[in-house]
Amino acid sequence: MTDTPASETTYRHRLDERLERLANRPGATIRRVVRGSRGAFPTLVHERLTALGLAESLPDGEPARVEPPDTIGKPELHPLDFEWYFTDDTVRSLVRTLGDAGDRVLCLGTPTVAVGLARAGVPVTLVDRNPLFRMRLDDVPEPLTFVNQDLTEPIDAETAFPVVFLDPPWYPEHTHSWLASACRHVAADGRIYVATFPPLVRPAAATQRSELFDTIRHVGSLSVDDDALVYYTPPFERAVLEHSDVPVISDWRRGDLVRIDVRDPSALPDPPRVETGSDWETFVTNGRVVKLRTTVSGAASEPLAPIDGCEDYVLPSVSRRDARRNHVDLWTSRNRVAAVGNRSVVAEALELLEDGGSVSELRPAAFSVSIDEPTLERLATRLEAVLA
Ligand SMILES: C[S@@+](CC[C@H](N)C(=O)[O-])C[C@H]1O[C@@H](n2cnc3c(N)ncnc32)[C@H](O)[C@@H]1O
Repeated sequence: MTDTPASETTYRHRLDERLERLANRPGATIRRVVRGSRGAFPTLVHERLTALGLAESLPDGEPARVEPPDTIGKPELHPLDFEWYFTDDTVRSLVRTLGDAGDRVLCLGTPTVAVGLARAGVPVTLVDRNPLFRMRLDDVPEPLTFVNQDLTEPIDAETAFPVVFLDPPWYPEHTHSWLASACRHVAADGRIYVATFPPLVRPAAATQRSELFDTIRHVGSLSVDDDALVYYTPPFERAVLEHSDVPVISDWRRGDLVRIDVRDPSALPDPPRVETGSDWETFVTNGRVVKLRTTVSGAASEPLAPIDGCEDYVLPSVSRRDARRNHVDLWTSRNRVAAVGNRSVVAEALELLEDGGSVSELRPAAFSVSIDEPTLERLATRLEAVLA
């Protein structure tokens, strides 16, 4: 099920109906409406409120209900790893729910909850492709076993966990594929909890959810706790909001918690193939996580070049459907992007920065290929802007 013009129109109607209801409640504010919009992105919510003539009469509302985690000097979260971390309250509530459901937990792509469980003394195995979580969540305690691998591959871990928890990227094929891993590693009478995308996250989401729930019913009975999961707005999403008309909201995103009481884990239909997309090399400099495409298009005439429609280098969207993504060769954890015309020059510059160097120290002699002074100067200026 993909988005079609018909589903776009139905979606718009459903979203508008919801927004009108929320905006007419006593005490309504822009921030409350966005939090209540079941996944619709804040910029779209604001656009629709404006079209409906409702935006102007609504105050922005309270700026922040939660303090973002202390990430100063630590590697930031990155959109290419789908890194939306839960708020501390949500982690606490999940630790209680999962710890009560069984004495060992398998966590798939949920580092904050795995660490929370381990801190509470619950033996937990975390499978995740990104080892950087250890640098963000200091003091990772003993009862946590970390399996560093991609979840599109068979998992190298024991089986028959009484409880499995997963928070896959918010697409049906990812959820189905991660669910297949969960089913291979859960006990026959165990329980699986799945963080699931809400129905207004994109036009096809409501249909995708009901198809997903039909798939899940092969395995066991299912119950859904709407809006049970709250996520911090990561710096990459904050950057998008800061470049828009919507006020920044530190905790707008909510997901649903699906609980599956397993009957027959082998009954899950085979998942579709998950498109893994391009490969990216990761650099960390001064807290910024910078991803550089392994194979760049090379269309840009400069080593590093701006992309049309990305003012100040900011990609003003976190949607997989955004066409500008195709031109992105370099992508930072502040959602700043650029095209790359000379990959080796940019990679060598990033290596130098990763080793503690600064942009002002870049000299032609530092590169293995020849680069003239004016080109290097432009590269330095652009790198500075991209890494801001
Ligand atoms: C999907 S989110 C869930 C994070 C969760 N809300 C939390 O607070 O812990 C991101 C996590 O999934 C991991 N991840 C994304 N795609 C993955 C994949 N294909 N295989 C393994 N881990 C993956 C990321 O590295 C990241 O840690």
